[in-house]
Amino acid sequence: PLPVILDGDPGLDDAIAWLLALASPEEVQVLGVTTVHGNVGLQLTTHNAGVTLALAGEAGAEVPVFAGADRPLVRVPLTAPEVHGDSGLPASDLPEPERAPEAEHGVNFIIRTVRERPGEVTLVATGPLTNVALAFRLAPDLPGLLREVVWMGGGTAQGNRTPAAEFNALADPHAARVVLEAGARVRMFGLNVTMQAIATPERVERLRTLGNRAGTVSAELLTFYAGFYRQRYGLPGGALHDPAAVAAVLRPDLFQMQPMNVQVETQEGLNFGRTVCDLYGVTDQPANVQVGMRVDDAAFFELLLERLGRLP
Ligand code: BDR
Ligand code: CA
Repeated sequence: PLPVILDGDPGLDDAIAWLLALASPEEVQVLGVTTVHGNVGLQLTTHNAGVTLALAGEAGAEVPVFAGADRPLVRVPLTAPEVHGDSGLPASDLPEPERAPEAEHGVNFIIRTVRERPGEVTLVATGPLTNVALAFRLAPDLPGLLREVVWMGGGTAQGNRTPAAEFNALADPHAARVVLEAGARVRMFGLNVTMQAIATPERVERLRTLGNRAGTVSAELLTFYAGFYRQRYGLPGGALHDPAAVAAVLRPDLFQMQPMNVQVETQEGLNFGRTVCDLYGVTDQPANVQVGMRVDDAAFFELLLERLGRLP
């Protein structure tokens, strides 16, 4: 299995993404999870990381949690309680974390782990890129030592938090810029592809009727999430953003990719946090990112369902 570090801000779709990874031991070995500010504050994302590992039962029992950055590099913090609830995990039947977070800072864990296994580690980032950017600044050798960074964020077209910007990109544009400019191998799954995978009521029902706790909790989370998606975007359910990034590690064949140059707008203004994607190569700048363009969303959902069905 591929060694992976999961970095994110759970956050209900981060939690589902991490369950998907934890339930897939043939494909990935989760070395640890690192948390970042984002959907809710760092204390909550770190607590929710422990809850998510506990939900995975044995598959999560040995996985350490490392708290990372509690705020963006430059901008003021941004959260999304309207999407993820005040706690970040709006569900009723949640276990308590089984182990406390480690003392080591998440950024140091990332640096140490990647250096121990040069060329091997995949970093799956499903939140603002603050931890990854800090790791790249502290350890300039890291971009070259990672197997790849797989990031849910940005997009080739519209935003979701502002007309121009996607939440993870907007929540730390400077960090996103550091990461995309570092020369690491990056696969980016932005709104243009993740909005193709909607957790429709029928799909949520299939998760609920899996009959295990991972299924019922995921269904409850996605039902809360659907309320916001219906009201704000007129969609029948929430988009499976973060699970798409994990699915792309498990099953790259489900996604169509396009290499292109991607820059991040770091000037405050209408386009703050926008990932400016050179779809047509009009700048003649070299491609620095493999961008997800299409997903086989039916196959992606079947994968999610089958894997969550393996959990308690
Ligand atoms: C992204 O923002 C967060 O709210 C989600 O967890 C996802 O990572 C979608 O824009
Ligand atoms: Ca997230």
